[in-house]
Amino acid sequence: MLFHNTLEFSRKLDAEDTLAPYKEQFHFPKINGKKVIYFTGNSLGLQPKRTQAYIDEIMADWKELAVEGHFHAEKPWWDYHERLAEPLAKVVGARKDEVCVLNTLTVNLHFLMVSFYRPSAQRYKILCEEKAFPSDQYMLQSQVRFHGLDPKTAIVEVKKRKGEHFWRTEDIVAKISEVGDELALVLIGGVNYYNGQVFDMERITRAGKSVGALVGWDLAHAVGNVPLQLHDWGVDFAAWCSYKYMNSGPGNASGIFVHERYLGKTGIQRFEGWWGTKKETRFLMKPQFEPMDNADAWQVSNPPVLSLAPYLASLTLFDEVGMDVLIEKSRRLTAFLEHVLIQIGEEVGGEFEIITPEDRGCQLSVFLHGEGRSLFDFLMENGVIVDWREPNVIRLAPVPFYTSFEDIFQFGQLLKQGILSKK
Ligand SMILES: Cc1ncc(COP(=O)(O)O)c(C=O)c1O
Repeated sequence: MLFHNTLEFSRKLDAEDTLAPYKEQFHFPKINGKKVIYFTGNSLGLQPKRTQAYIDEIMADWKELAVEGHFHAEKPWWDYHERLAEPLAKVVGARKDEVCVLNTLTVNLHFLMVSFYRPSAQRYKILCEEKAFPSDQYMLQSQVRFHGLDPKTAIVEVKKRKGEHFWRTEDIVAKISEVGDELALVLIGGVNYYNGQVFDMERITRAGKSVGALVGWDLAHAVGNVPLQLHDWGVDFAAWCSYKYMNSGPGNASGIFVHERYLGKTGIQRFEGWWGTKKETRFLMKPQFEPMDNADAWQVSNPPVLSLAPYLASLTLFDEVGMDVLIEKSRRLTAFLEHVLIQIGEEVGGEFEIITPEDRGCQLSVFLHGEGRSLFDFLMENGVIVDWREPNVIRLAPVPFYTSFEDIFQFGQLLKQGILSKK
């Protein structure tokens, strides 16, 4: 599509945008009395206005019913998590029984490693991307050490090529073949948090499985952002947080995916607890664990309903709109942002280097060469919230639910002002 960096054109795009009314469904922070332009939904999504009612409902039930709320609340607490599975399964391309919401992200990755990282003397290596999100690195290193192995030999990192800012799928696939029958697990962040790259999850999953390894994905930056077909791609397991594109609130609960081939099976290693046992017999308090025949078998504790309520609220928005519509708008928004950045770069004679490759979701990561922290401060003071990394990288995520095309135009104007004001 041909874009123009003008106010009129941005407004024309907004007028054509069927998702535009959804901006009103979210609370925006204000700076100097004005709603901010919010580009950090890749870190923490905005609060949907409907969330409060979902939390209030739990608080009222707790106040009025106390323990009886477990079974007699309008949305009983004991199986509250089940309400999330169906809408969430649609977001990640899974069957309803392959998905559960529980714990938090790094905790879930650890728990899933219990089941899916079973190193032997021959097959013990884990392949990941270099400079994975630090929590993933710590998780992998501690898992490897837990099995008495040395992270230096057991963890194989795929590097970017010299001078490039992204990973090449062919390099990942080649490394998988090279490690071959020593490879126990591939575990990569489906969308990289730093450069915004979307990995070719289907092809990498196929490559990993072809050498006999298992394949898992950390989908923190992917869920609610890019198309996912976890079931059809044959992914073994995945986990994600819900506070970024899923808008469920700070530090909130995580989702997991476990492929149906592992459901209802005996002999799977797992750290277990009472909410993983069959619902029908759970309260007989039997000593034997009888796993649920869905992903709930990985659920250890009774559901944290006050965390699940905002996640459920947010999922109703995803269900109303559907991922296809969100992604279509997201692609347009990000392409418009790219256009605006290139135009403004030319106008100010600046050197903006977009390091996000074409395989991308909503985020663009940009080196603003020659600029510094004062530009970030200028943007913040003028009501634009971006993510700044020293020395001069900004990460911009125009989230389709609540970003307008005009926001992007206005951001471009402020960026220009911020740069020119120093010259
Ligand atoms: C890719 C990735 N992995 C893991 C984490 C850690 O998440 P948590 O603190 O919820 O465990 C994050 C957090 O932003 C992340 O972006």
